[in-house]
Amino acid sequence: MNTDKKNIDDFINNNLEKKVVVVQGLGFVGAVMSLVCANALTEEYAVIGVDLPNKQSLEKINKINSGIFPLESSDPKIQLFYQNSLDKKNFYATYDEYAYSKADVIIVDINLDVQKISVNFGDLESYDVTLDPFKKAINSIALNCKEEVLILVETTVPPGTCKKVVYPIIKDVFDSRNFDIGKVSIGHSYERVMPGPNYIDSIQNFYRVYSGIDEMSSKKTEDFLKTIIKTDEYPLTKLHSTNSTEMAKVLENSFRAMNIAFVVEWSRFAEEAGVNFYEIIDAIRMRPTHKNIMYPGIGVGGYCLTKDPLLASWSRKNLFNGDGILKQSEMGVRINDKMPSYAISFLKANLLAQKIKLKNVALLGVSYRSDVGDTRYSPVENFYLQLQNFTEKIYLTDPYVKYWDEIQKEIILDFKKVLSKSLDSVIITTSHSEYRSSKILLDLLMNRLLLAYRLNVRLLYLY
Ligand SMILES: NC(=O)c1ccc[n+]([C@@H]2O[C@H](COP(=O)([O-])OP(=O)(O)OC[C@H]3O[C@@H](n4cnc5c(N)ncnc54)[C@H](O)[C@@H]3O)[C@@H](O)[C@H]2O)c1
Repeated sequence: MNTDKKNIDDFINNNLEKKVVVVQGLGFVGAVMSLVCANALTEEYAVIGVDLPNKQSLEKINKINSGIFPLESSDPKIQLFYQNSLDKKNFYATYDEYAYSKADVIIVDINLDVQKISVNFGDLESYDVTLDPFKKAINSIALNCKEEVLILVETTVPPGTCKKVVYPIIKDVFDSRNFDIGKVSIGHSYERVMPGPNYIDSIQNFYRVYSGIDEMSSKKTEDFLKTIIKTDEYPLTKLHSTNSTEMAKVLENSFRAMNIAFVVEWSRFAEEAGVNFYEIIDAIRMRPTHKNIMYPGIGVGGYCLTKDPLLASWSRKNLFNGDGILKQSEMGVRINDKMPSYAISFLKANLLAQKIKLKNVALLGVSYRSDVGDTRYSPVENFYLQLQNFTEKIYLTDPYVKYWDEIQKEIILDFKKVLSKSLDSVIITTSHSEYRSSKILLDLLMNRLLLAYRLNVRLLYLY
């Protein structure tokens, strides 16, 4: 691979006077975090996004540099922020680690995956966490960065990672470069970004928790966050160690995953008892202290809730030699992973009871949640794979997904095109706003032509 040194140097020369922020990882978080930095509130930054030199990432890099933002989003601010960065010429993307040498701040927004082994569409047999790619990424920063840089880790990591993994790597490399480890700052501040209609606001106009490996790191992290987040309206929360902020992140997501698993279990009971669970939840929600009890859906998906409780449990065992695993949190993931299979059995039972045979079915929505184009670990995947066994033809549609990578299928963007086919059933699998506000869908429903499973779409019930 050729170097991109010249382009990086040109970019820096065209942005002299500006501090340089380098974002490592141009995925769902990093690409949008880059935009937020390029549109910082109280400072002018030159932003360089770095991703890996593989086919998929190079496509993203090329798009960013040629005027196309690589993520589909319903948030109009994304295009606005991207256009501003094009006008200001302060956002460049590259695969070249040389970029780290120019940075005043490096933000780590790469993935850190859990390897799950599952059978029978969602039975979690075992899992493991491999830190090697993450370590390699930190190493590439340490080898190239300046001595006085702020390295801000935003990746969701097993608690303990900044102190037990990041710091030792940087120290070793700094020693070999004759750099003073006392000069580098390492902060941790986790993302609460919500891809969807408020994508940008979920970073710029939202509460943040932060910490540093020492007081200087903590202060530098705070100063940096204040330049990109409206902290007068959304004050920052400082925690006293990186172990704490790292734990806060995985606890936050485990709490949500557990709430969902709890409701999933009860919804199974409600199915067995033949009662309308939605009616029950609505009744309970009248009580102010119980307003946030959740509705069940066809499953929990996405990159975070499906793995974060496992990252926490793995950390307890492997980084802190703790007293066992986080049993309940692991169980939550297990229950949630099975939800698409429960949905299939529920559907089958209802079809049988109503003597309906599915032939031509449309699935509305393949992404893991409403109004986003992210199909990673979408519950619709296992639902679709099992549905194939008892239908002749399945049409897939989603306004945010042109190509479903995991299944390797083209997706029809316009659901109205799908509804014009000869269908015997339509199943709402993702509660995109477009479907919720659709008059055509509502009419179909009223005429009872629709078989709708995604029951947390308020209007739709299975009958
Ligand atoms: N997606 C969300 O909604 C969300 C929300 C909050 C937190 N997070 C956390 O943020 C982190 C990133 O998530 P994401 O959804 O953006 O993941 P992603 O997979 O979309 O993006 C990660 C990117 O990092 C790149 N990458 C990996 N190793 C690299 C390296 N060594 N150098 C440069 N680039 C590298 C990958 O190629 C990829 O493009 C994860 O820890 C995730 O748990 C995600």
